Amino acid sequence: MSRLNLTHIRKMKQEQNKIAMLTAYDASFAHLLEQAGVDVILVGDSLGMVVQGQESTLPVTVDEIIYHTRNVVRGSQSVFVIADMPFMSYSNHDQAITNAARLMAEGGAQMVKLEGGAVIADTVKQLTERGIPVCAHLGLLPQSVHRLGGYRVQGKDDDAAQRLIDDAKALQNAGADMVVLECIPAALAKKITQVLTIPVIGIGAGTDCDGQVLVLYDMLGLTIGKRPRFSHDFLADAGAIPAAINKYVQEVKSGSFPTIEQQF
Ligand code: KIV
Repeated sequence: MSRLNLTHIRKMKQEQNKIAMLTAYDASFAHLLEQAGVDVILVGDSLGMVVQGQESTLPVTVDEIIYHTRNVVRGSQSVFVIADMPFMSYSNHDQAITNAARLMAEGGAQMVKLEGGAVIADTVKQLTERGIPVCAHLGLLPQSVHRLGGYRVQGKDDDAAQRLIDDAKALQNAGADMVVLECIPAALAKKITQVLTIPVIGIGAGTDCDGQVLVLYDMLGLTIGKRPRFSHDFLADAGAIPAAINKYVQEVKSGSFPTIEQQF
């Protein structure tokens, strides 16, 4: 069985087939997600919080992402696999190229994800020109939580919204092949999704994105403490893990997740 690739993912946007994405960090869940119809697995640095019990994603290392990406790749055959670049692992071009290459060559990732707007456009260009596919992450940037002063909705006023639109265009022009929008108003996410030709995946960004992503432990109700408002406990509805993941996939594909209550 061959893996989904960027050509398939691009076609899904063109044909308006919603992309179902979830995080995973190990082989067993990767297998389950694939069986349930998930298209894309993100080996997110959220693993720092949900697997390691850290207070933020900041302590996660490149070696740890490589380890978890390898496990996900071993446990799956057909999903597209994206690996997160950890905090400060792409602060200059040489470091970004070296670390992204490791995530792909040693981890087996098909794409890497970086947080930031126009400020990282040049880094994105350096990576994509060397054949490394990039997913850009805009809006709420968990690696910048201390600067943002907490996990808050971004892009609420006109200036901030325009900056996000400009950032998204700059990243697409730099060669990014996908964008994740986290915690921004649904109307703004809709506009960015319409303006960009590359797939836009939302998390707390409304129903009009080209696809959705959630942290696996949030959507199974396993997260310690308060679950984010934009997430939903699919396990409570479905009663079993495979059925819960399948329900998520069906609701993303039909556009019934997220609901109005789960967006801003
Ligand atoms: O690390 C992660 O899981 C992520 C998602 C929240 C998109 O970046």
